Amino acid sequence: MGVFDVFKRQKKETADLGGALLVDIHSHLLPGIDDGAPTMDHTIGMLRKFEELGYQKLIFTPHVMSGVYDNTTEIILRKLEEVRGVSKELGLKLQLEASAEYYFDETFFERISRKDLLPFHGNHILFEFSFRNQPSRVEEVVFQLKSAGYQPVLAHFERYLYYHPSIEVARQLRERGCMIQVNLNSFTGHYGLNVKNQAMRLLKAGCIDLLGSDCHRIQHLELLENSLQEAVFHQLIKEPVKNRQFL
Ligand SMILES: [Fe+2]
Repeated sequence: MGVFDVFKRQKKETADLGGALLVDIHSHLLPGIDDGAPTMDHTIGMLRKFEELGYQKLIFTPHVMSGVYDNTTEIILRKLEEVRGVSKELGLKLQLEASAEYYFDETFFERISRKDLLPFHGNHILFEFSFRNQPSRVEEVVFQLKSAGYQPVLAHFERYLYYHPSIEVARQLRERGCMIQVNLNSFTGHYGLNVKNQAMRLLKAGCIDLLGSDCHRIQHLELLENSLQEAVFHQLIKEPVKNRQFL
C-alpha cells in the first residue's frame, strides 16, 4: 500500500444529504414572522446554502403559537410569495412551499375543528409540544387530526426531554398513524448529548419517518454541512425516510 492509498483511506467522504433527501419539510425561513430569519437577506443566505447542499424543495414551517406567533394562513402565504419572487430574481432553482409548525395547545384543537390549518403535501400537519411540560391528550390530538382528514407529523420528538430515554411514545404514536420527524442537527450534538442519544435510539429502532433541518439561521446549515463526513450522516442518507416523496 502506497502513501496515496493511506491518504485516500483517511480522507472521509461527505454524505450527499440534500441529494438524498431532496425535500426539507421543516424550516423557519420566511422573514420576520417568527424566531427564524429576521430579514429577507437572512432568508436569501439560507436559500443559497440549501441549494448548495443539493436540496430541490423547501417547505417553510413558521411557528403558529397563540399570543406569541399569531401567524395566519394569509400572512404565511403572503410571505411565501415575497420569498418566491426574490428567489426567482436571484435565479435559484429551489421549489418553495409553505405550511406551519403548530404549537400544541387548546387553540390547536379549535383550529383542527375549524379546519383552519395550512397543510403541506396535501394533508400533512407539523405540530410541536412544549419543551418544558409533558402534554396530555396526545392520543386525542392525533385522533382528531386523522378524523379531520389530516396526516399528523410530530416535530423533533427527540427534543422532548420528558420522554427520555424512552422512545415508547414515538412507537405508540406511529402505531396510531402519526409520523415522527427528527431534526438533522440532533445528530450533530447541537441540542446536547441527551438529545443526540435519543435521536440515535429512534434511528436504530427505525422510528424516523421524516428528517428536517428546523433551520432558523445560517449557522444551522453550516453546522450540518461541517458534519456531513460523520458516519451517522452516511447512514441517514440510506434510511427509508419519506422526504423524497414530497418532491
Ligand atoms: Fe421548528
